[in-house]
Amino acid sequence: MWAIAMLILSFSSLCLAQPGEHIDWPRWCGKAYMPEYPDFNPGGQLFQPHVQRNLTLNVRFKPRYNIFLADEFEGEFFIHAETSDYHGVPWPHMEDDDFYYPYDVNATISATATGEVLAQGRLRASFNLHNATSDRPIYRFKFDLGKFKPRFEPYEVTLKATPIKTEIYVLPSKPKGNVVRIDNLSGGLFLRSSPGSKFEPFFPYGFYAPCEGFLCDENSVAKIEAYRSHGLKSVVPMMPASATSWNVYKSLDSAGVRYMYDLRQHYKNHSAVKEQVEAIKDSDGLYAYWTFDQPDGHSATHARMWKASSLIKQLDPYHPIAVSLGCDNYYFEEYTKAADIIVADAHPIGAGASRWQTSCNATYGSCGCDSCKGNAADVAIRLFHLAQYERWLNHWPKPKMQNLQTGPSGEKSLPVSPSAAEVIAMSALALNNNAKGVLPWAWPVDNATTALHEKFLRVMNRDIVNELLTRIPARKLRVKKKKELDVSYWVLNKTLMLSVVNLGKKSVRGPIVLNLPGIQPTKITTVLWGTAAWDHRELFKPMGMKLRIMAVDPLSTNIILSMLCCDDGPSHSGYYD
Ligand SMILES: *[C@@H]1O[C@H](CO)[C@@H](O)[C@H](O)[C@H]1NC(C)=O
Ligand SMILES: *[C@@H]1O[C@H](CO)[C@@H](O)[C@H](O)[C@H]1NC(C)=O
Ligand SMILES: *[C@@H]1O[C@H](CO)[C@@H](O)[C@H](O)[C@H]1NC(C)=O
Ligand SMILES: *[C@@H]1O[C@H](CO)[C@@H](O)[C@H](O)[C@H]1NC(C)=O
Ligand SMILES: *[C@@H]1O[C@H](CO)[C@@H](O)[C@H](O)[C@H]1NC(C)=O
Ligand SMILES: *[C@@H]1O[C@H](CO)[C@@H](O)[C@H](O)[C@H]1NC(C)=O
Ligand SMILES: *[C@@H]1O[C@H](CO)[C@@H](O)[C@H](O)[C@H]1NC(C)=O
Ligand SMILES: *[C@@H]1O[C@H](CO)[C@@H](O)[C@H](O)[C@H]1NC(C)=O
Repeated sequence: MWAIAMLILSFSSLCLAQPGEHIDWPRWCGKAYMPEYPDFNPGGQLFQPHVQRNLTLNVRFKPRYNIFLADEFEGEFFIHAETSDYHGVPWPHMEDDDFYYPYDVNATISATATGEVLAQGRLRASFNLHNATSDRPIYRFKFDLGKFKPRFEPYEVTLKATPIKTEIYVLPSKPKGNVVRIDNLSGGLFLRSSPGSKFEPFFPYGFYAPCEGFLCDENSVAKIEAYRSHGLKSVVPMMPASATSWNVYKSLDSAGVRYMYDLRQHYKNHSAVKEQVEAIKDSDGLYAYWTFDQPDGHSATHARMWKASSLIKQLDPYHPIAVSLGCDNYYFEEYTKAADIIVADAHPIGAGASRWQTSCNATYGSCGCDSCKGNAADVAIRLFHLAQYERWLNHWPKPKMQNLQTGPSGEKSLPVSPSAAEVIAMSALALNNNAKGVLPWAWPVDNATTALHEKFLRVMNRDIVNELLTRIPARKLRVKKKKELDVSYWVLNKTLMLSVVNLGKKSVRGPIVLNLPGIQPTKITTVLWGTAAWDHRELFKPMGMKLRIMAVDPLSTNIILSMLCCDDGPSHSGYYD
């Protein structure tokens, strides 16, 4: 038995040619976009891995957070164990069988260098394996952080069961500025604003913002304050770094606006990276580095990204690094390797018309949104694809964020701008599909668009919404025969948040029972958004109280909070600590 257990997990390894430095090539996501250039076979796509003949046991292993700090006492490991068609090792009785359950897995987690045991336990395969439907872990093991002396290099730890290694960072406490870390459970960001304070949920909802016409204007201080007054607490400045622009970051700090710092023009120049990271890393407002902007679209060289990323991590391990991806499926593994956060850059509304008078198909076209259909649903599809590629590669899911198309100033001057309903639907679809940040493109926008976001931010900035979105992975509910409804929910401490987007062009008439498994909503406490008609009622056993939706307008977004009953339901507080 043990011999089987000790088989090394075989990860799918891809043998891909490295694209060269093709910045000036007339290609987008590997496609030729000018008719006078020859077609180009892009390569770099991920495909569904081969399905194995027998189900296998797939175990993945991660620390709770990407970093721990010296002044914390307790650490936590996650183990995700599932039956898999693609990855893992053979294990007795994995196939559904009336007589035998899969064997339990004995797990021991130890520090690789010293062999010291940090945690031990059994994975109850018989109960849990077939239930592991989500990408998020189901086994949690606490350990004593005091066993690691703080240092900047990671420690390697080993899980003995099917042997797997991972790294953990136990960093010295940071004397100045904030720390932002990733919760490997939910994918959310947590920010601690000063040494000794608590890590708080942080959900960035903030526009891309140019220097010219906003941040670098003479009256930029007033403009930043006006921006903040709309409820916008974060921003992505698009700023050439220069002696004068540092003041902008000071103004953002004073106004309490947090930012993703723009390194995209400079990541290849190591002295520039050094200079800028050193200058910004201890500021109050920094929450991440926007290091790579659509490297896949431009076919940037992978190795340079990886080098820049390790340099940034050496200089500042306390903040995550983001990459925005323009392509749907183009060297995904290589282009995301250097980043902690993946930003989906899909601006679908009006997409499909080439800027270069070519057709938009598999070989031609830079058409605004790679492989998009040209409607709001593309946001959900793109986020689904990104998560699917991670599953195929057997990677732990990274936090995703969504660039949000907002107005006529949309990227590449797309000919059409989204309606208010489309903007909110795309934003809610991002939340529904587990985005942990929404980054609208681009400030300033017209007054009507400002008012729309201000209204939506009154929802997003509620403490409970922030907590739910950051601490809890979104769970999807598929509604039978109503494919046009994109439904997700979050549960924390007897509070349910439910979001329903109707992607269809027609109203959906109910009553439609939303049968959230094991959950009994008892009373809608707040309608956060939308005009759908709701109703709860006791449905005959075994369903108990269920929520029903009576009518949903076309292309509408509807978000509610509801109280939950009962103590004998399954525990959903497991996600909270
Ligand atoms: C696959 O499962 C079948 C039936 O359970 C078993 O007889 C066979 O040995 C398994 N093959 C491998 C490679 O484990
Ligand atoms: C796990 O440990 C238990 C108790 O020590 C033992 O009975 C069992 O065989 C072990 N399981 C495996 C798969 O090694
Ligand atoms: C797993 O699923 C089975 C069958 O659906 C169920 O009986 C069992 O209670 C579930 N286990 C957990 C821990 O939810
Ligand atoms: C690299 O950055 C340094 C520091 O900002 C700058 O002086 C130098 O000109 C840059 N080199 C190139 C090739 O841009
Ligand atoms: C894409 O369009 C071009 C030009 O119309 C055509 O030559 C090419 O065959 C098309 N490619 C595909 C995959 O349809
Ligand atoms: C999970 O934790 C690991 C190890 O610290 C870290 O490298 C990684 O970035 C985290 N993964 C995600 C998706 O946050
Ligand atoms: C937009 O709002 C600003 C500030 O409230 C106001 O000064 C301006 O006149 C408005 N513009 C339009 C076109 O209504
Ligand atoms: C959960 O809700 C109860 C009752 O509303 C409240 O007293 C408690 O503080 C909440 N716990 C957390 C962790 O939010």
